[in-house]
Amino acid sequence: MAVLHCAILVLLCVFDTATVVADFDYGGVPLWINRLVGEPSVLSMQDRMDSSWFRANNPQACPQQCDCPIQWPTALYCDHRGLADMPDHLPVTTQYLFLQSNNISSLFSSSLANITGLRWLILDHNQLQSDKLDQATLKNQTQLCYLFANHNLLSSVPSNLPAGLRQLRLAYNQISSISPGAFQDLHNLTLLLLQGNRLHTITEGDVKGLLSLSHLDLSGNLFSSVPGHLPPSVQQLYLSNNSLSRLDEDSFVGFLNLKYLRLNHCGLQSHSIHPEVFNFSSLVELDLSHNKLTTTPTVPTTLQYLYLEANEIQEFNMTSFCREVGPLSYSRLKILRLDGNKMSHQHLPPDWVFCLRVLHSIYI
Ligand SMILES: *[C@@H]1O[C@H](CO)[C@@H](O)[C@H](O)[C@H]1NC(C)=O
Ligand SMILES: *[C@@H]1O[C@H](CO)[C@@H](O)[C@H](O)[C@H]1NC(C)=O
Ligand SMILES: *[C@@H]1O[C@H](CO)[C@@H](O)[C@H](O)[C@H]1NC(C)=O
Ligand SMILES: *[C@@H]1O[C@H](CO)[C@@H](O)[C@H](O)[C@H]1NC(C)=O
Ligand SMILES: *[C@@H]1O[C@H](CO)[C@@H](O)[C@H](O)[C@H]1NC(C)=O
Ligand SMILES: *[C@@H]1O[C@H](CO)[C@@H](O)[C@H](O)[C@H]1NC(C)=O
Ligand SMILES: *[C@@H]1O[C@H](CO)[C@@H](O)[C@H](O)[C@H]1NC(C)=O
Repeated sequence: MAVLHCAILVLLCVFDTATVVADFDYGGVPLWINRLVGEPSVLSMQDRMDSSWFRANNPQACPQQCDCPIQWPTALYCDHRGLADMPDHLPVTTQYLFLQSNNISSLFSSSLANITGLRWLILDHNQLQSDKLDQATLKNQTQLCYLFANHNLLSSVPSNLPAGLRQLRLAYNQISSISPGAFQDLHNLTLLLLQGNRLHTITEGDVKGLLSLSHLDLSGNLFSSVPGHLPPSVQQLYLSNNSLSRLDEDSFVGFLNLKYLRLNHCGLQSHSIHPEVFNFSSLVELDLSHNKLTTTPTVPTTLQYLYLEANEIQEFNMTSFCREVGPLSYSRLKILRLDGNKMSHQHLPPDWVFCLRVLHSIYI
């Protein structure tokens, strides 16, 4: 039993130390792999394989600075080496290229010129600078679906990205602008991470072309209001850690697919939130924790998860959850967090259970 337990936990054990978690965070969204198409391990090979054995037994050419595990012949692990440049003579068959945690500041188009089948390019935790990126480098990589460059020094979203891209992770850079037309051809992009940057506006042209975008993280930027013009396909919108002065009636109008909305740590006050702003039925989860709310906000009856912890709420307004109470008129809330506010159980009105009749948990 103990052995089985440990086998199941192997993956977790690898993540056990804090440093490893930071290195393999990939911008905070897990990287799911599809073994059927030959996608390799997303963990570093450092200290996990004997490089010399593989070098002696793997008939394939392998750059001196990389590990080339025999079981993933198209993957190249060149992470955590202090490399200042891309390794030379990358095998032309490379599809999965791991270069995270190095010291790479520039990308030249010649470095990938002979590779035509690149699918993943992982460059997290390097020193990439926007003015040292040869814009043509990636345009020809028609197979490239994941480009990760979290924790670098980029100041703008690169242009000339290949049209087949599905995930673009650029969290924790210094991005203050999006190059004109950067996203124009990225019709297949579903995930875009831009948290921890310096964006303060998004204009209509900036996100044009993102027809399939479903997950957009803009947390920790410099927005003072909800950016307009975001793609209507978005299902998960994270705007935490921006100082939002107000939420207007039309802040989320047009987001017909929006299900998960995070607005925690935004300095929001009850009087600056329009009562109709969340009145759309697609919403499943709403995070308004760590703000300065003094009353419960008005939410749709279809909402299932509501996080209001760490505010200054003194008053539970039942109208927030149920405009009326009847056989079919009740709130679908399953989880309600009200802990860390200025109220306790005694403040709940006597008939609250008729409104919140399917609630699983309330924290207060
Ligand atoms: C690309 O291939 C050419 C011809 O085989 C070779 O001369 C050149 O060094 C290669 N470039 C890289 C970056 O590997
Ligand atoms: C990274 O590169 C910079 C110059 O670009 C250099 O000053 C620094 O020492 C390098 N750091 C490491 C760890 O190699
Ligand atoms: C991209 O492809 C075009 C046409 O095949 C070629 O002319 C160009 O040199 C390539 N660019 C790079 C950076 O490899
Ligand atoms: C976008 O995805 C579709 C469906 O998977 C695919 O047929 C198409 O080739 C992709 N577009 C590009 C530019 O790769
Ligand atoms: C938000 O800010 C807090 C405090 O500054 C920080 O600990 C947290 O990592 C930030 N989160 C994001 C997503 O930026
Ligand atoms: C929410 O919007 C609908 C139209 O979509 C409207 O009929 C309804 O009155 C609004 N709800 C509230 C509480 O204002
Ligand atoms: C409760 O909320 C409704 C709108 O949701 C508002 O009209 C009403 O004034 C609020 N009641 C109190 C006592 O604040």
